[in-house]
Amino acid sequence: MQAVWGFSHRKESIGGLVDYYGMEALLNPKTSFINFTDASEHMLKVAIILGSTRPGRNGEAVARWVYDLSRKRNDAEFELVDIKDFDLPILDEPVPPSMGQYTKEHTKKWSAKIASFDAFVFVTPEYNHGIPGALKNAIDFLYREWNNKVAGFVSYGSAGGVRSVEQLRLVMAELQIADVRAQVQLSLFTDFENFSAFKPAAFHEKSLNTMLDQVIGWGSALKSLRIERPEYSMAA
Ligand SMILES: Cc1cc2nc3c(=O)[nH]c(=O)nc-3n(C[C@H](O)[C@H](O)[C@H](O)COP(=O)(O)O)c2cc1C
Repeated sequence: MQAVWGFSHRKESIGGLVDYYGMEALLNPKTSFINFTDASEHMLKVAIILGSTRPGRNGEAVARWVYDLSRKRNDAEFELVDIKDFDLPILDEPVPPSMGQYTKEHTKKWSAKIASFDAFVFVTPEYNHGIPGALKNAIDFLYREWNNKVAGFVSYGSAGGVRSVEQLRLVMAELQIADVRAQVQLSLFTDFENFSAFKPAAFHEKSLNTMLDQVIGWGSALKSLRIERPEYSMAA
């Protein structure tokens, strides 16, 4: 368990506090005013959402690479979320998702999963210069579960999947998701052998971590909004 310190005496320097109270008293959880809590309670939860569903998809190897590298970090918790596992049909809810009146079990299951995260990394290919239909459909199923959260993108395609991400950024705005600037763009020509065996160039690891830094930074900053002002996520 890693200790996290929450100070109530914010005006004083740590040195001043140590001088005044003594190090032993400050570090003793029984006598200290410092809140000792489990760091995992404060960890941001980041979903790595695999956005392609077709048999033989390249997305699986890309999402696994993102997940494996993410897990080397200790500043957030990561989970791989494969939209294929949720068996979502073409949107079949009668009421718009912003009303939150879900009638189908698959929607409720998908809602509970997405609601449990603070931030998202969308792993997406580019289909016909745009977002894969299955990913757009999965996004459209929900509304408030996405609000006041953060997204980063890992895309792939012959042009790095960038057109898919540009479209996703427009969708993020409507869902009140803050999308970070840094992104990972993987080329079918240079990061895949025979357009199928994923062999990413080494420099992508740095891009991935830069994107994750931004996702975790913004995700942490927005946490108070999600906790204290949930009405900000109300649909207009
Ligand atoms: C329906 C379809 C449309 C595609 N359109 C594009 C495209 O517009 N631009 C592009 O760079 N690649 C395009 N591709 C190639 C995909 O980027 C490539 O097949 C990628 O591996 C697809 O991701 P997936 O394997 O995870 O499904 C397309 C592939 C499919 C299946």
